[in-house]
Amino acid sequence: MKRIIISTLTLLSISLTQNTLIIPDTLSGTDLNLTLQNGTFSFYEGISTTTMGANGNILGPTLIMNNGDFVDIKVTNQLADTTTIHWHGMHVSSENDGGPHTTIAPGVTWNPKFSVLDKAGTYWYHPHLHEKTNLHVSKGIAGFIIVRDSEEAALNLPRTYGIDDFPLVFQTKTFDSNKEIVVPSNADSVLMVNATINATLDVPAQVVRFRLLDGSSQRVFNIGLSDNRSFSQIGSDGGLLESSNTVTRLQLAPGERAEVLIDFSSMEGETISLMSYASEFGNGIYGATYPGMGTGITMDGYNPNVLNGNDFSLIEFKVVSPTSNPITSIPETLVAVTPLLESDVDTTRSFTLSAVAMGPNALNGDFLINGASFKMDEINEIIPLNNTEIWSITNQSPIAHPFHIHDVQFYILDRDGVKPSKAEAGRKDVVLVNPQETVRFITEFRDFADDAVPYMYHCHMLTHEDQGMMGQFIVVDMLASVDEFPLIAKEFSLHPSYPNPFNPKTIIKYELSQPGLVALTIYNISGQEVATLVKESQSMGVYKSYWSGKNDIGRDMPSGIYFYTLKMNGESRTRKMVLMR
Ligand code: C2O
Ligand code: CU
Repeated sequence: MKRIIISTLTLLSISLTQNTLIIPDTLSGTDLNLTLQNGTFSFYEGISTTTMGANGNILGPTLIMNNGDFVDIKVTNQLADTTTIHWHGMHVSSENDGGPHTTIAPGVTWNPKFSVLDKAGTYWYHPHLHEKTNLHVSKGIAGFIIVRDSEEAALNLPRTYGIDDFPLVFQTKTFDSNKEIVVPSNADSVLMVNATINATLDVPAQVVRFRLLDGSSQRVFNIGLSDNRSFSQIGSDGGLLESSNTVTRLQLAPGERAEVLIDFSSMEGETISLMSYASEFGNGIYGATYPGMGTGITMDGYNPNVLNGNDFSLIEFKVVSPTSNPITSIPETLVAVTPLLESDVDTTRSFTLSAVAMGPNALNGDFLINGASFKMDEINEIIPLNNTEIWSITNQSPIAHPFHIHDVQFYILDRDGVKPSKAEAGRKDVVLVNPQETVRFITEFRDFADDAVPYMYHCHMLTHEDQGMMGQFIVVDMLASVDEFPLIAKEFSLHPSYPNPFNPKTIIKYELSQPGLVALTIYNISGQEVATLVKESQSMGVYKSYWSGKNDIGRDMPSGIYFYTLKMNGESRTRKMVLMR
C-alpha cells in the first residue's frame, strides 16, 4: 500500500516539473584540455549544490576521438583535493590509464598521450583516487568518450551528436536536507540523467541512437520502454555487436555501457518513457527490494527508497518532427566480432568475491577479492605480455558485483557454464557477477608492458571499490627484460639465460674467475632490503653456482617488483626482478 502511494507521488512530481535534458558539450581533435574544478549546480530550481566537474560545474564534455588518432590530453586539477582521471574501457598504457597511482595534485596538470586503439564505441572517464573514487564521481566528475572508426562509419547509423545520437548517463544520488550530495550512501533515491532530474528530451520521429552509461555509485538498472515495445541494442562496453539485438529489457550495472537504437518513426506527437523495471529484479541486486540474496539481509540506509524494487521513469521522450536526412531503418548486420579461443589460453586465473562479515551484516562491507583488501603497494597478479587468459570470477557474497578490469576488453565465456546472452556476447569490460555465480571471461594482454605502474581490476560499485574491493596487476615483457640485461665480461657475470620474471624456482647463475665471497641482496620496490645471502665460492677458475629461490630467498616475499644486487670483489650488478607466486 505504502509503495503505491510513493509511486503515485513520484509520477505526479515528474509530470509537474520536467527539465530539458542537459547534453554535455563535445571536445574533439587531438589536443584536449580538461580542467577539474569545484562548482555549484542547481539540481533543484533555486537551490545551489556543491559539485565537481570537468570544464564546468558538473559532469564533463564528451570527448570525441578517432581510432588511430594520437591524442594529447592536458588534465589540470583545480580541485582542492588530489585526484586522477581514468579512461574507462580504453586500451592505453598503464602510465596513461589514470589509475590510483597516477595522482594529480591540486594545481598540477597531467599530460597523458596515447594512440586511440579502441574500436568505435562508448567509453567514459572518471576519477580513480584510492578511497575517493566515489566522492569525486558522486560530486559530479564523469564524462563520455565516443570513439569513431571506419568500420562504424560504413554503417547506416545515426551519429549526429545531440540530434539523433545522444549520450545518457544514469546516476542516482543522495541529497541531505540542504540539498548537498552525501557520499557514501546507500540511500540514493534521486535519479538523474546527465545531471538532469525529471529529464525530458525532444527526439525526432526516426531511428535515434542512445549511448547508455550506468554512472551510478551502486545502482543497477533494468532498462525498457514504457509501452514495452522492443528496441535494438547495437553495442556493448567495447564497441558494436555482430548484429542488432532486439530486446525489451537491457540490464546495466555500474560502469557498463550499451548503445541502443529506438525507432520513433511512426510516433510523431507521442510521448514515451525510458524506464527502469527494477520490480523485475530478483533478490541480490542493488536496486531490488532486497539487495542481498535473502530477505533478512540488507544494507544500512537502503530501505525505504522509492527506487528499490519499483519501476520508475529514467527519461521522457517527446517525439517531434524528423530531421531532413533521417535514418529510418535499423541495420541487421553490424561488425565482425572475433572472440578469442579457449584453445589459445596460456593461463587461467581464479578470483573470489566475498564479504568480510557474515549473516545479516554482510552487505555493509568490506568486500574482498581472493580474500584480500586492496593495498597500494602490493601487486596481486603478474601477467606475461601477450598472454591469452581466462579469468574465472566466483561471487561468494550475497550481492551482485560488477567486476571491471583495466587495459583490456574481454569476451564472456559463460555464466555458471551457460553461454552469455546476445546482449553480453560482444566486447566487455564490466560484468555483473550474481551471488553464488561463476563468470568466466577470456581476454588477451597485448601492447603494454610496464612493471612500474599497475593496472586495476575491481568492483565498480564505488563504495565497494573504495573499501578495498580491488586488486592490481602488471603486464611484464619477459623477453625485453632479458635483452636489457647487461652482460659483464670475465670477472663477474650474470647470465641472461634464466627467466625474468623471477619466481621461486628461478636460478641466479654467476661465473667467477677466482674464489671469493658473493653477496646477493634483495630490495623491495621502495628500496628497503628484504633479504641478503652471502655465499663463499671456493673453486678456482670459472665457477658456477646458484641460489635457488625456493630454498634460499623469495619464500616469504609477496608477489611484486624487487631489485637484486650481486656483489663480489667490490663490483656489483643490480637488476630488476619480478617475483611471481
Ligand atoms: Cu571505471 Cu577502474 O574504473
Ligand atoms: Cu561490489
